Amino acid sequence: MATFSCKSNYYCSYPIIILSLLSFSSLLPITSSSSSSSESDILLSFKSTIDDPSHSLSSWSNTSATHYCNWTGVTCSSSPSLSITTLDLQSLNLSGELNPSICQLPHLSSLNLADNRFNQSIPLHFSECESLLSLNLSNNFLWGTIPDQISQFGSLEKLDFSRNHIEGRIPESIGLFQDLQVLNLGSNLLSGNVPGVFGNFTQLIVLDLSENPFLVSEIPNDIGKLDKLEQLLLHGSGFLGGIPDSFLGLSSLKVLDLSQNNLTGEFPKNLGLAFEKLESFDVSANKLSGSFPNGICRGKTLTSLSLHTNYFTGSLPESISQCLNLERFQVQNNGFSGDFPDGLWSLPKIRLIRAENNRFSGEIPDSVSIAAQLEQVQIDNNIFTGVIPKGLGSVNTLYRFSASNNHLSGELPPNFCDSPVMSIINFSRNSLSGKIPEVRKCRKLVSLSLADNSFVGEIPDSLGELPVLTYLDLSDNNLTGSIPLELQNLKLALFNVSFNHLSGKVPPSLISGLPASYLQGNPGLCGPGLPNSCLDGGPMHKRVSLTKLACALISIAVAATLAMVVFGFVIIHRRSKEKSGVGVWRSVFFYPLRISEQDLVMAINDKTAVGSGGTFGGVHIVSLPSGELVAVKKLANSGSQTSKSLKGEIKTLAKIRHKNIVKILGFCCTDELVLLIYEYLPKGSLGDIIGRPNFQMPWSVRLRIAIGVAQALAYLHNDYSPHLLHRSVKSTNVLLDADFEPKLTDFALDRILGDSLFQSILAFESPSSCYLAPECKYSKKATEQMDVYSFGVVLLELVTGRKAEAADSEGESIEIVTWVRRKINITNGADHVLDPRISSSSEEEMLGALEIGLHCTSVMPEKRPSMAHIVRALQSLGSRSSSRYLEFILPSVGEDSLPV
Ligand SMILES: *[C@@H]1O[C@H](CO)[C@@H](O)[C@H](O)[C@H]1NC(C)=O
Ligand SMILES: *[C@@H]1O[C@H](CO)[C@@H](O)[C@H](O)[C@H]1NC(C)=O
Ligand SMILES: *[C@@H]1O[C@H](CO)[C@@H](O)[C@H](O)[C@H]1NC(C)=O
Ligand SMILES: *[C@@H]1O[C@H](CO)[C@@H](O)[C@H](O)[C@H]1NC(C)=O
Ligand SMILES: *[C@@H]1O[C@H](CO)[C@@H](O)[C@H](O)[C@H]1NC(C)=O
Ligand SMILES: *[C@@H]1O[C@H](CO)[C@@H](O)[C@H](O)[C@H]1NC(C)=O
Ligand SMILES: *[C@@H]1O[C@H](CO)[C@@H](O)[C@H](O)[C@H]1NC(C)=O
Ligand SMILES: *[C@@H]1O[C@H](CO)[C@@H](O)[C@H](O)[C@H]1NC(C)=O
Repeated sequence: MATFSCKSNYYCSYPIIILSLLSFSSLLPITSSSSSSSESDILLSFKSTIDDPSHSLSSWSNTSATHYCNWTGVTCSSSPSLSITTLDLQSLNLSGELNPSICQLPHLSSLNLADNRFNQSIPLHFSECESLLSLNLSNNFLWGTIPDQISQFGSLEKLDFSRNHIEGRIPESIGLFQDLQVLNLGSNLLSGNVPGVFGNFTQLIVLDLSENPFLVSEIPNDIGKLDKLEQLLLHGSGFLGGIPDSFLGLSSLKVLDLSQNNLTGEFPKNLGLAFEKLESFDVSANKLSGSFPNGICRGKTLTSLSLHTNYFTGSLPESISQCLNLERFQVQNNGFSGDFPDGLWSLPKIRLIRAENNRFSGEIPDSVSIAAQLEQVQIDNNIFTGVIPKGLGSVNTLYRFSASNNHLSGELPPNFCDSPVMSIINFSRNSLSGKIPEVRKCRKLVSLSLADNSFVGEIPDSLGELPVLTYLDLSDNNLTGSIPLELQNLKLALFNVSFNHLSGKVPPSLISGLPASYLQGNPGLCGPGLPNSCLDGGPMHKRVSLTKLACALISIAVAATLAMVVFGFVIIHRRSKEKSGVGVWRSVFFYPLRISEQDLVMAINDKTAVGSGGTFGGVHIVSLPSGELVAVKKLANSGSQTSKSLKGEIKTLAKIRHKNIVKILGFCCTDELVLLIYEYLPKGSLGDIIGRPNFQMPWSVRLRIAIGVAQALAYLHNDYSPHLLHRSVKSTNVLLDADFEPKLTDFALDRILGDSLFQSILAFESPSSCYLAPECKYSKKATEQMDVYSFGVVLLELVTGRKAEAADSEGESIEIVTWVRRKINITNGADHVLDPRISSSSEEEMLGALEIGLHCTSVMPEKRPSMAHIVRALQSLGSRSSSRYLEFILPSVGEDSLPV
């Protein structure tokens, strides 16, 4: 029966645990005796100057039970005598001062301090570590120049100062390193000329001077002497001039990256032939000219070749079909011409072909079907001819094919969209003809452009069945018939059918918010805003009746399902009633509420109900005898779990402590009902406030709300144990306290209701809720990305000041995601979607938030950032410390990214 908080064990047990820990630790034996080797003292004195906020080095202690060889990051060797050889203190968030005392360890050969926060100049005193062979200080805050005395480190084999703020020239004295195998100075602020001393590094295997934008220099000629060099990484710096002829001597080279510099001239003759072990070759984004490096696949080891964005000319050799391991081939944005080699299309491992913006000719051979790994092809803006082969449709890994602006002709093969992962198809500006085949298999198709061809016949109805189709451009063809009503099912951000021969009535929701020009050039079309307003009748009868039939069938199916669900409950109820008797209240209060279940149940009536009742059950505001108010949510008890596991689930939720999550104060349940008692928040929900006609809220408050909600979700997703999904993020579930601090409610109700009841209520009450991610239609498995999508919708509400679902100027209801995308597409500018009630001084932050909202609501789940990323991105907006928020939310924007 009613109990107070202390029965719910986890509150009261803290002191006991703490007490027992204390007594336990005081009993621990002190094994490191005072005569312990001085090596542990050396470690302790090293530790004494280090700041260790995360207590990563807590095992480093003279009272520790653990032998120092087993301390965090320490490795000892046992011969000739037990002594420390390796210190690996990577990623421990350490800062403070690096104490040279560590060099008293006589056998220390490897010191790794990478990924910490050491903020100082290069610690030259480490050169006193006589046996040190490897020093890694990558990714700290090292500053200052590389001093001449760096050569004191002359006996090192591996030196890694990458990803710091080291500036100035590379001193010539670095040439005194004799034994160096790895030299990494990448991602720093080095400048000036690279000295010609690299020929001395005869043992060098890895040389990395990349991402030093101020390093304006020619590539030293003597690098070519390094015949053991396997990786040469010079990308993203300021290298200019030619690639030295001496490169022919780099006979062990596996990875060459010279991309994004200012290199000019042609390749040394026979460069390709020189590299027998080459795996990756990247010279993209320079100003190189001349022809393709012949023989580059001689060793058959090449997996990635990138020459893009240069001034290369000439044709590609047929010998490229020998590149049996080639996965990525990128020659886009050059002046290449001639027939594109057939063999390239059917390489067994090829995944990426990018050849757009050249003058390639030739056909796409049917043998492309052999390319079992092919994912992405971009050959736009060339002069390819011939038909689109059937073989292309049988490549099941293909997710992007774009070949706009070529001379392709013939019909689209019926299987053109059979790849189950296909996302983007662009055949616009070719000479394709015939009908557009029905498409059903490509359930992930986001963008389809067939504009400016000679297609005839009707727009296939089946396009309306592709759940994530967002961009559809069929303009400039000879299409006839009416626009399928099925397309209204889609969240189309672009729908362009201009200049065809379409007729009949335009489904209004399809085009609301889109410019009339997307319909122009179809004299037979009628509807609001068009030259013809519709007369009754017209050529769309067939489709209407079909759709009606479909609707009727669907409603019957829904009704039948519901009947079955209800029937199921009755059975479950019967069973549970038989077992445990009716109406027995069981309750657990986590706070002293001083109210009995009976009083609580009495208080739950029409008078205390608030709001329109949430999706999963109504909410009542109940006044406790103390005068305090609580919110009580009434849920069905599905009976799908035993009352013990139900209690367990609710306790799991009630234990959540986060300033942006509503507290659960207790619960009562019977076999029929679950009453969840939440803290009461007087300001109501964000959704209600946005919906008010006189809605006004400063941007700073909105941003704070967004950050709070994001933090709450990040906490549920990543930090709380067990990890939880919210599954019903929407603005009406964001409650506001008196200071407008947001608190999320209605979280993780699936755990109380059971997954199947949760899903069926969701499917019945809000089948097309605009907070639901598009993939909910085809994927039953709930994911973090679905929460991220819903959060994105809330963020867009905050940025635009519009409700998630609002009527447009013509009275058509339009979802905010579609509305925002359409507005941005049409006006080519994002500022038109910002809430006009907010002054323009906040515009930059709002645009940033809009950008984040668009990423969150990306159609493809894998394109959405994680909640943790979103929190950081939003915070960096607020702190104004950086306008580079995209860095946070798009950790890996590569060339493979989709435009949505
Ligand atoms: C352990 O270290 C602390 C400070 O680091 C020192 O005060 C104490 O005397 C040391 N104890 C032993 C047993 O060495
Ligand atoms: C380190 O710990 C392992 C097991 O935890 C133990 O076998 C080993 O003897 C310890 N090493 C030293 C040097 O105490
Ligand atoms: C790392 O240390 C800084 C202070 O030096 C602290 O603010 C931050 O929270 C720490 N991060 C982690 C992951 O421990
Ligand atoms: C490094 O230290 C300097 C001086 O104490 C300080 O101004 C700077 O902000 C620090 N840099 C970082 C990244 O912590
Ligand atoms: C240094 O540490 C970084 C970070 O983990 C790592 O990527 C790099 O390979 C290390 N450098 C060497 C030379 O081992
Ligand atoms: C190369 O190393 C030798 C010592 O082996 C040294 O005398 C010479 O100065 C070095 N060259 C450069 C350019 O530092
Ligand atoms: C290349 O050189 C031009 C001037 O010649 C300079 O503006 C540009 O920044 C350089 N690019 C790189 C990547 O260094
Ligand atoms: C498309 O329609 C135009 C105008 O009606 C006509 O001239 C052209 O021949 C048609 N093209 C095809 C491929 O049907």
